[in-house]
Amino acid sequence: MTIGIRAVDHIGIAVADLDAAVALYTSLLGTGPTAIEEIPDQQVRTAFFAVGDLHLELLVPTADTSPIAGFLAKRGPGIHHICFEVPDLDGALAECRRQGLRLVDETPRGGAHGKRVAFLHPKATGGVLLELCQARRETPCSSHPRTPHT
Ligand code: CO
Repeated sequence: MTIGIRAVDHIGIAVADLDAAVALYTSLLGTGPTAIEEIPDQQVRTAFFAVGDLHLELLVPTADTSPIAGFLAKRGPGIHHICFEVPDLDGALAECRRQGLRLVDETPRGGAHGKRVAFLHPKATGGVLLELCQARRETPCSSHPRTPHT
């Protein structure tokens, strides 16, 4: 069994000023953000930009207790995390535990675009914060109303 990583979903970048960062990346990429969204679970506001098959996720804290506020205070703006897409997030977390990899999130939490996500502990991954996200279901079952995963 493997964790099942099959693609980089996005790269997270911590910013101090979201408007300035959005202006910069809009200028660099020649196109604006695909989404701007607040993620209450993580106390951040995010702006997503599409770059080929992956996205950049700009993150600004919405509270002093946000993990991004701590990151900015300690290390300043910059690359914050890499997010890998996995087909089965619960299975991936079970496999991480089996491999003895320390997790930040023992159970998945809510991420951007309503995706389920979980972070591995950077002490277990050479100082790189890794996020895993559940792959989007390509063919949602239309005969049942969508219910949030728990
Ligand atoms: Co992310």
